[in-house]
Amino acid sequence: MDTLVTKKLSKHFGGIKAVDGVSISVKKKTITALIGPNGSGKTTLFNLISGFYGPDEGKVFFLDKDITNLKSYQIANKGLVRTFQLVRIFRNLSVIENMLVAPKRNYGDSFIKSIINFKKSIQEEKESYNYAIELLDLLELPHMKDEYAGNLSGGQFKLLSIGMALMRDPEILLLDEPVAGVNPTLANKIFDILINCRDKFNKTFLIIEHNMDVVLDFSDLIYVMNRGKIIAEGPPEAIFSNRGVIDAYLGAD
Ligand SMILES: Nc1ncnc2c1ncn2[C@@H]1O[C@H](COP(=O)(O)OP(=O)(O)O)[C@@H](O)[C@H]1O
Ligand SMILES: [Mg+2]
Repeated sequence: MDTLVTKKLSKHFGGIKAVDGVSISVKKKTITALIGPNGSGKTTLFNLISGFYGPDEGKVFFLDKDITNLKSYQIANKGLVRTFQLVRIFRNLSVIENMLVAPKRNYGDSFIKSIINFKKSIQEEKESYNYAIELLDLLELPHMKDEYAGNLSGGQFKLLSIGMALMRDPEILLLDEPVAGVNPTLANKIFDILINCRDKFNKTFLIIEHNMDVVLDFSDLIYVMNRGKIIAEGPPEAIFSNRGVIDAYLGAD
């Protein structure tokens, strides 16, 4: 079973076919990249998958369940989480505090039940603290645990935002240009960390990325979009020797 499947998704804005019959499959424990020139429909596809827009046509399946008509918060609670370029980080809270106030996955317990089940909630708090510590290790931020988030460098700030999304314990994380504006060394480091996260926590990633070097080095499978359609799919080596892909990029300049 693939973690995420879209079937012929379409979204039009007036006369623009932003997403035009897109079918993709994301396998569990992969880093799947979505690339394509500006305006090719990548972010709109993310909005459709994560329930921020309803599609005009087509369906989205998450772990074999049809989630096409669910609201974005329902989808996030099921474990399909999307981070935005801008994440709410409290600069005057410490790194660990930010991790602990990040929204948790609501597995369906009622509010009343969670109050009555006080012991359980203390246990859960301990577990969530331990998980936060484990994630900070993975993100190479353990030494920054008690530092104000406002004192982090730009790269550490990005890592913290990824960590906060991981606090939800998502099955799949959708990242829209996670290393935009980041220097190559740091971009590589962030992707190394995502690889560790895939391997150690069995996480799955669907990532929109402009930086071709990291896409080539770190992704398991690549989908290429152009003018709302998927024009190529395959492993990195195949994609970067594909004439249609090269033309789409050259044509965009
Ligand atoms: N909310 C919107 N309203 C109208 N047009 C939109 C909207 N969102 C995206 N578009 C248009 O859809 C196309 C695809 O945009 P987008 O998905 O942001 O592309 P990408 O993320 O690949 O750069 C563009 O032509 C864009 O102008
Ligand atoms: Mg975009």
